[in-house]
Amino acid sequence: PPLSEILNLHDFEAIAKEVMPVKAWAYYSSAADDEITIRENHAAYHRIWFRPRILRDVTNVSFSSTILGHRTSMPIYITATALGKLGHPDGELILTRAAAKHGVIQMIPTLASCSFDELVDGAQAGQVQFFQLYVNKDRAITKRIVQHAESRGIKGLFITVDAPQLGRREKDMRQKFEAEDPAEVSKAGKDNIDRSQGAARAISSFIDPGLKWGDLKWFKSITKMPLILKGVQCWEDALEAYDQGLAGVVLSNHGGRQLDFARSGIEILAECVKQLKEKRGLRFPNEKFQLFVDGGVRRATDVLKAVALGATAVGIGRPFLYAYSAYGPEGVDRALQILHDEFEMNMRLLGAPTIKDVLPEMVDASNLSSH
Ligand code: FNR
Repeated sequence: PPLSEILNLHDFEAIAKEVMPVKAWAYYSSAADDEITIRENHAAYHRIWFRPRILRDVTNVSFSSTILGHRTSMPIYITATALGKLGHPDGELILTRAAAKHGVIQMIPTLASCSFDELVDGAQAGQVQFFQLYVNKDRAITKRIVQHAESRGIKGLFITVDAPQLGRREKDMRQKFEAEDPAEVSKAGKDNIDRSQGAARAISSFIDPGLKWGDLKWFKSITKMPLILKGVQCWEDALEAYDQGLAGVVLSNHGGRQLDFARSGIEILAECVKQLKEKRGLRFPNEKFQLFVDGGVRRATDVLKAVALGATAVGIGRPFLYAYSAYGPEGVDRALQILHDEFEMNMRLLGAPTIKDVLPEMVDASNLSSH
């Protein structure tokens, strides 16, 4: 169907499934084991209901906000997803350009298909980018990558902590990762790879399963970038991150691709907000320690629920991959425009003229187990 008939982010997935090469579809869409968590990621949002307010002059609504102090046109960011060229020859560069056009922030993945420098060079002057780090067993390599990122102006380092080993994604494993694949990974992770068990296994063997809390001091000593842990899954670890002076955490289960039966980010958010308030007196959203959520976010209403519960912003992954795999750069443009239009309408209907007006009392989250 023509792009004009795509009405929401779910539509891109249905089209992508039809038109993408089997191998690329398998890598992007797959999740761990029985794929229970990936389903729960979106389903969890169905347990939260709105309590809209009326008569509040919503002629003009603004959904611009900040992430780690940087302006964004909407409280979302494009999260890091590996192997961008599996879906389109221009790969992550499409996301860099779309992010510039729509005033949102892109998180560059360690395992991008495009080189890191290509993606930084592809940004416009003043465009803010973050970097997602997989920590290499060889810390000299990690140090080089981190300091290079900082020198190129990266504004936040998101250290992925939910993947000491890559999850078992069987859809992907059934598609053997072949050497002549067009989506060659950038240098970051290419050495000694095992190509026999799907794309995910093939590119991840350098990741250090020995990473531990005690290593965070070292990261602080090698960079001044704000440090954020990506893949925190319970309040105890969020509290530890806060106590260690980090800038924030992403409450995430890696899009359901790691531990199956991990809970959804939005469940973890409710739990963290409650416990960090009780134990450290923190209120959210919080400038000094920011909570992010990702996984299963497909509508502006999903984002507004997370924001109401205290998230600074929300990461979105697969929808943008599906959008460009099916429609090229225009697909991502449309995906962001759809979100923009959904924000405008739903904030009016919610009775919230600005993001600051999206408050906890605007949602009924009593069906979340951790509330
Ligand atoms: C990911 N994700 C991910 N995360 C990360 O820290 N490093 C990575 O290299 C990748 N790679 C990756 C590839 C693909 C194809 C997917 C779908 C996801 C996880 C990603 O950052 C994020 O947590 C989820 O994608 C969010 O869920 P949704 O929006 O895809 O449902």
